[in-house]
Amino acid sequence: MKPYDIKELLKAGKSALHEEVRIKGWVRSFRSNQFIALNDGSGQNNLQIVVDFNQFSEEILKQITVASALRVDGEVLESKGAGQEIEVKASQIKIYGYAAPEEAQKTILQPKRHSLELLREQAHLRFRTNTFAAVMRVRNALSFAIHQYFNQQGFYYIHTPIITGSDAEGAGEMFAVTNFEINNAPKTEDGKVDFSQDFFGKKTNLTVSGQLEAETAAMGLGKVYTFGPTFRAENSNTTRHLAEFWMVEPEVAFNDLEKNIDLAEDFLKYCIQYAIDHCPDDLALLAKRFDEEQKQKPKEERLEQSLMEKLEFVLHNKFVRLSYTEAIDILKNSKPNQKGKFKYPIDSWGADLQSEHERYLVEKHFKTPVVLFDYPAEIKAFYMRLNDDKKTVRAMDVLFPGIGEIIGGSQREERLDVLQQKMHDMNVDEKELWWYLDTRRFGTVPHAGFGLGLERLVIFVTGMSNIRDVIPFPRTPKNAEF
Ligand code: 4AD
Ligand code: MG
Repeated sequence: MKPYDIKELLKAGKSALHEEVRIKGWVRSFRSNQFIALNDGSGQNNLQIVVDFNQFSEEILKQITVASALRVDGEVLESKGAGQEIEVKASQIKIYGYAAPEEAQKTILQPKRHSLELLREQAHLRFRTNTFAAVMRVRNALSFAIHQYFNQQGFYYIHTPIITGSDAEGAGEMFAVTNFEINNAPKTEDGKVDFSQDFFGKKTNLTVSGQLEAETAAMGLGKVYTFGPTFRAENSNTTRHLAEFWMVEPEVAFNDLEKNIDLAEDFLKYCIQYAIDHCPDDLALLAKRFDEEQKQKPKEERLEQSLMEKLEFVLHNKFVRLSYTEAIDILKNSKPNQKGKFKYPIDSWGADLQSEHERYLVEKHFKTPVVLFDYPAEIKAFYMRLNDDKKTVRAMDVLFPGIGEIIGGSQREERLDVLQQKMHDMNVDEKELWWYLDTRRFGTVPHAGFGLGLERLVIFVTGMSNIRDVIPFPRTPKNAEF
């Protein structure tokens, strides 16, 4: 009796004919009291199990219901039915967990089309649906590709802390971490919460980025990356924001902005190619879903490209590199701006770009991914390197179709005095970041890095339209169920 994952057995196909095999999985459907479609999560395709009802007790047969969990022993036979090469004729069936049909019927486990919204409400069950399982397998492949890419390029994976005392992005969007009882926190004389008595003896929060710590590591290890959860208490209820998301952050000593952009482009293409090579079945299913979703949309919102064309397009085109200043000129003179179609009109240099502007540049103007660089210093974080014009910083954002910003990064300010001035001007506490400033005191070098939001990459590759559908348990404003 040879145990098989269903994916492996289907791959073996006819070479496994007449083997006695053991399979475990969940029932997707049971037709005519005879054909079980069994899935164990190993892949998109179900295995057909043929049951001769004369051979099994009534007791067993009535427990073969949609969603119940089984072990099947049997012989691999050539399948006469369409759609599969082989099937397994059951000789023994063990029921692990029975699913009562009247209960299962109320859930998304029923084999019919459910809305993505309904799937979200039953997030604990959605791993067993075709669409979500496909997304999760692609997410897994992309995560693996990320590690593989950096490993092959000689980067070291470092683990930066989740609890920190700093606000790396300076945007104040942090979740506090405290051991105090909320209603009973000790106070200082002036009535403020006395964090010196808290667990860490200071105010702490969940990290918004591992960058600052990654920079310190790059100043000894050269090329490093972090890949972990990051947290933002921004109240944006959009299809591209999560309060808890996974960020990949490479940081490279001696890299300048150009090298940083080269790395970002090469890295993204590697990951997309990896998914294409390793997830053909899942991407085929997702491409079909993508197509159907496009057809539901009004004509002017429909994408001309299929999912696979969209991915191939990114792989085979060089990203356009454009300064912020050039982008503002294009946007100012664009049709939607002239006609008042942007929610946030672009009237002057210095404006922060919204996703509508980013998507206009990518989807309408250039029709290819765009890397914007040299942003106004005022709208970017304190650590970005100041240009000679004293107005702009060596920032870069990679903009993708359907998404807008997928990567944000920069060359870092390595000059101690300039950095200190910047922190002063932007109200960043030097005392809090003494350790960060030390890296500029002891052998400082030019360096650069960026952050990729994993979920935004998964959205792009799977063609899903809501970020809540590409992470197992989404955390968004007013939502931390499961
Ligand atoms: O542009 P951000 O804020 O950059 C940083 O945090 C830098 N410290 C990165 C670095 O240079 N090491 O975030 C980087 C990326 C964004 O481009 C986006 O893909 C993703 O993280 N991101 C989010 N993804 C989901 N939900 C959110 N709320 C996100 N905020 C940022
Ligand atoms: Mg950003």
